[in-house]
Amino acid sequence: MIQDYLSQNRSRFVEQLKALVRFPSVSTLPEHRQDVLACADWLTRHFRTLGLDVKLYPTKGNPILVARTPRASRADAPEVLVYGHYDVQPPEPIELWKTPPFELVVRGGKLFGRGASDNKGQFFAHVKAVEAYMKTGTPLPVNLTFLIEGEEEIGSQNLMLFVKKHAKQLRADYIIISDTGMFSRNHPTITYATRGIAALEVRVDGPSRDLHSGVFGGSVANPVMTLAKLLAACVDANGRVTIPGFHDNVKPLAKWEREQFRRLPFDERTYARFLGVPSLAGEKGYTTLERRCARPTFEINGITGGYQGPGPKTIVPAWASAKITCRLVPDQKPETIARLVSQHLRRICPPSVKLTVTEGHHSHPFMESPSGRGARAAAVALRKAFGRNPVFVREGGSLPILDVFKRHLRGEIILVGLGLPDDNWHSPNEKMDLANFHRGAVMSAELLRELGTQG
Ligand code: BES
Ligand code: MN
Repeated sequence: MIQDYLSQNRSRFVEQLKALVRFPSVSTLPEHRQDVLACADWLTRHFRTLGLDVKLYPTKGNPILVARTPRASRADAPEVLVYGHYDVQPPEPIELWKTPPFELVVRGGKLFGRGASDNKGQFFAHVKAVEAYMKTGTPLPVNLTFLIEGEEEIGSQNLMLFVKKHAKQLRADYIIISDTGMFSRNHPTITYATRGIAALEVRVDGPSRDLHSGVFGGSVANPVMTLAKLLAACVDANGRVTIPGFHDNVKPLAKWEREQFRRLPFDERTYARFLGVPSLAGEKGYTTLERRCARPTFEINGITGGYQGPGPKTIVPAWASAKITCRLVPDQKPETIARLVSQHLRRICPPSVKLTVTEGHHSHPFMESPSGRGARAAAVALRKAFGRNPVFVREGGSLPILDVFKRHLRGEIILVGLGLPDDNWHSPNEKMDLANFHRGAVMSAELLRELGTQG
């Protein structure tokens, strides 16, 4: 019955996803504030039409949506929380999109649009599964709460406060999240670890104004050069982070993890071609998959300084700045890492410039045992929906709220991503695979059933 409902309503689900993608709910840009609010409002109304009890909570930033299903008939039905985010990354550079970013376009079995996969299409698949239960009059096997936020792409700082404050009301036995990827189209995937983040901005100030580089160059430190050297000194020739203390709490990869990574089919050349690089690079002693998913990094996200306009301009720039994020693995602590990075930079910075290090958002790495009841139920549901047994992986990306969920809500976290490696998250031409969108709803319905029937 549920499966019939899901297959008969496919095109309507896609139309609804179109409406959801149409909101440019970009959390990092203040000019999109109204679009963010409109998107939250659309979702509120949508949940209401499905018969859920919805509340939209304002925060200092973007609103948080909490929608609850009517209580399940079984008194001992488990509590389930489904988390997702309605905010998206900026679409720029727009000129590289083949179709407009906020018009969901179906092309070749793919749904193109910003947020189609990260994360609107993924959490919406769960919404449709719940709709199927409710509209077919099938008793829900669990008590389910959707928690959908609007600041994931900027660090979930307001959601962290919210979850701590409403921990009692949000407490769940299982927390289901589809905001990760599948290892490949043929590998349904359960993710058991994600990396954390410590974000920083580094600024180097030199002379009080841009100077003539002929008249003054050679007599003062060049801020761009100084910044480049400072940053370059944070990673050595073997690709290893050099910051003292940085690796102190890194839990070494377990033998079974390294074996599991090795068993996954992976071709370095295909991967390099896919990314458009002449060859791969990374920390010595680790495979590409290990580097990408399970090792900490020091990454420059952007660097600015001096003249970059047309033609030459002979100056010593007054300043230079860079945005940095370190990806962290269990058991590194973002606060500690941010402090170590900042101390290291101050220690090696020459006295000829002024250095300012500002800390940004923090999120903890996350790891869950892949052998819990939830993981077992997810494996069954994925097998039913995708026709194959899932693989278990660690992922390189971050979901800042996971650690807070784990500490304050306690339930088992189940990461069943529906993204594919070529979904172009945070890039132009983001897409959601149409089959995965539909299979995701099937998987979700099965997963709820599994969770509800476990003893
Ligand atoms: N969905 C991603 C996170 C992700 C990507 C997890 C791939 C696992 C695999 C999420 O929307 C995201 O991009 N998060 C940010 C968080 C950051 C801003 C704190 C990230 O990882 O950069
Ligand atoms: Mn996401």
